[in-house]
Amino acid sequence: MTRPGPDAQQTGMQLTDAQPADRQQKDTQLTDTPLIDMRHIGKTFVQADMETRVLHDISLRVWPGDFLALTGSSGSGKSTLLYIMGLLDQASSGSYHLQGQDVSTLDDAAASAFRNAVTGFVFQSFFLIPYASALDNVLLPGVYSQVPDRELRARAEELLVRVGLGDRMHHKPNQLSGGQQQRVALARALLQEPALLLADEPTGQLDTATSRSILELFQKINEGGTTIIMVTHSPETAACARKRIVMRDGRIHPDIPDEAEQPDRPDERS
Ligand SMILES: Nc1ncnc2c1ncn2[C@@H]1O[C@H](COP(=O)(O)OP(=O)(O)OP(=O)(O)O)[C@@H](O)[C@H]1O
Ligand SMILES: [Mg+2]
Repeated sequence: MTRPGPDAQQTGMQLTDAQPADRQQKDTQLTDTPLIDMRHIGKTFVQADMETRVLHDISLRVWPGDFLALTGSSGSGKSTLLYIMGLLDQASSGSYHLQGQDVSTLDDAAASAFRNAVTGFVFQSFFLIPYASALDNVLLPGVYSQVPDRELRARAEELLVRVGLGDRMHHKPNQLSGGQQQRVALARALLQEPALLLADEPTGQLDTATSRSILELFQKINEGGTTIIMVTHSPETAACARKRIVMRDGRIHPDIPDEAEQPDRPDERS
């Protein structure tokens, strides 16, 4: 990553400000530091002698308390952008400040500690440990935490109750339904009380009723102050967010298209 670029106003660049109009006044009074501040982010994957340019000049700010849906066709770069936001990958160019911290200055250990402290990640394919109970899966990110074990365990149990799995704490993932596994993954992402919850197609494998219950949980979590960025192909899912951003060919599309222009849900998954 390069050093922070010049200010948006000076360059006149397209800076997507993911802040709902009705909340601008209020949030400005609460904080003037965006949770996410990306400037001119680019990403190129290099494999052997092949370079694939995936993200181009992404400039985006996300404010504390936002709930953002990231949509766009398959291959448009949504997961890549989400991974960079969650410090699971690094940009090839541009600058990224998370909670005011320039992430390019962090070494691997500092980046992982910062990621653990600030973000929670919900993946489409859950990534639960198969031989561990729901409770132990939720407790996993707390391994290196300073919080005493007893307190962490109480928090994990409370989260499992909150996601409706109070009676499934000692079930292993293969004894849980898909929706229940996704709820375990959500509880796990919330264990460290992250400021930023990132979710890649969190309802992609779930039926309509289960999706709805997960989305209601997201809305409640957001109302509690957690900022959420959620990748989705589904317009109905995106409608649950406060704001929507559309990606096309590795860029943020300046206009939100009509429903009719929404990409079809592809068969291939991220
Ligand atoms: N490690 C990699 N090496 C090379 N190219 C990659 C790599 N990871 C992703 N890509 C390419 O980057 C592009 C964007 O991928 P990404 O996974 O971000 O898309 P997406 O918008 O999340 O798509 P989907 O909706 O299908 O999940 C794709 O064309 C993909 O082939
Ligand atoms: Mg994806």
